Amino acid sequence: MGTDNDFASYTAEYETVQHVRHTVTVPLGADTYDILIGPGILTDLAKDLTSTLAAPRYMIITDSNVADYLGVDLIRLLRQSGARVELLSFTAGEESKNMDTIVELARKMVDLGADRQTAILALGGGVVGDMAGFLASIYMRGIPLVQIPTTLLAQVDSSVGGKTGVDLPEGKNLLGTFYQPVRVYADIGVLATLPRAEIRNGLAEVVKYGMIQGRELFDFLEEKWRDILNLEPDVTGRIVFNSCSIKAGVVSADEREGDLRRILNFGHTVGHAVEAAAHYRIPHGEAVSMGMVVVSRISAAKGLMPQKDLERLCGLLDRLQLPCRIPTGLRAEGLMNLLRHDKKARSGRPHFVLSKGIGQILITDDVSRKELAAAIEASRG
Ligand SMILES: NC(=O)c1ccc[n+]([C@@H]2O[C@H](COP(=O)([O-])OP(=O)(O)OC[C@H]3O[C@@H](n4cnc5c(N)ncnc54)[C@H](O)[C@@H]3O)[C@@H](O)[C@H]2O)c1
Repeated sequence: MGTDNDFASYTAEYETVQHVRHTVTVPLGADTYDILIGPGILTDLAKDLTSTLAAPRYMIITDSNVADYLGVDLIRLLRQSGARVELLSFTAGEESKNMDTIVELARKMVDLGADRQTAILALGGGVVGDMAGFLASIYMRGIPLVQIPTTLLAQVDSSVGGKTGVDLPEGKNLLGTFYQPVRVYADIGVLATLPRAEIRNGLAEVVKYGMIQGRELFDFLEEKWRDILNLEPDVTGRIVFNSCSIKAGVVSADEREGDLRRILNFGHTVGHAVEAAAHYRIPHGEAVSMGMVVVSRISAAKGLMPQKDLERLCGLLDRLQLPCRIPTGLRAEGLMNLLRHDKKARSGRPHFVLSKGIGQILITDDVSRKELAAAIEASRG
């Protein structure tokens, strides 16, 4: 049983712990930027920001949840350091990711007197990052952008690489730009308030990085899965660092989504079909998890991927509380029809990112309907 004394000593000890911090540089010529990763990064943000990007004004763009959790503290920290800063928020959720919200935010910025020197701080998950990034890219033909991702998915994926955008009623992310931030601050500590389901969305992407290029990352996930589920700060920092390093390598070699960047879609083509077939009632991370299993089954059936690697993938997903099986209600025929209409399909033929074993991939459109149907059937249940 703990006593007040125990608690006091624990707290004191905790405060003296120096956590590991990492930096990933995304090398994009004149657009090169750093991603700072680690617990407590936000505490130093005000000082760091004003020395990296001394803008005369900052607009924090965030959503209604993150405004309460973090926005108020961030604005206080920045104002204490003498920065001129305002906070603009919109209702949290994918439903807000549209042009109406963009126009509303832009008009508020005009009202507040934001000019070409004003910088946008995108504080939130992927929805905030995509929208604030899009707005930064078009407001007065482009103003500086800083990404402060607050979900695991945003830290390992959406804040890196410069894709911005909004949805149309006809589909997700149909309007958008490529626009790089000047810096990314990924504070691991902010993930403590994130709902479990959101953590799983991010973990599916982390497993994906392990599958496409990160054999060592995959081994680390297998070894540390318990610490990962508990969001142990240094372990979480390390997986964000490894994930960002892999994504940075891919996007710097292929900034505008040519062939190489397609490897980042591992599990996603089938995952998107699963999400659509389930009318978006299956969360993105779970759908990607199922998608990775389906393409790995195709790979194993083609003799590309060792069977034991398929088993390791399913074992890891299971430990990370991600599904390996597609609900029986989703039929192979329906999923295959959706795949034919995937927006990334070329000439109506979906491309598949297959696996040659953990850490190695292969892009091909050489997957027959029969092979796909068999892999989906084997994954249902
Ligand atoms: N640009 C890219 O390359 C890219 C890549 C992948 C996904 N995306 C986009 O990202 C979006 C999904 O992002 P997401 O999964 O982060 O969703 P999200 O931004 O909707 O965040 C999920 C939920 O978590 C809440 N939240 C955020 N941070 C929190 C915190 N620290 N504590 C408590 N709650 C918090 C949010 O308010 C929201 O309710 C999609 O729109 C997708 O299209 C973009």
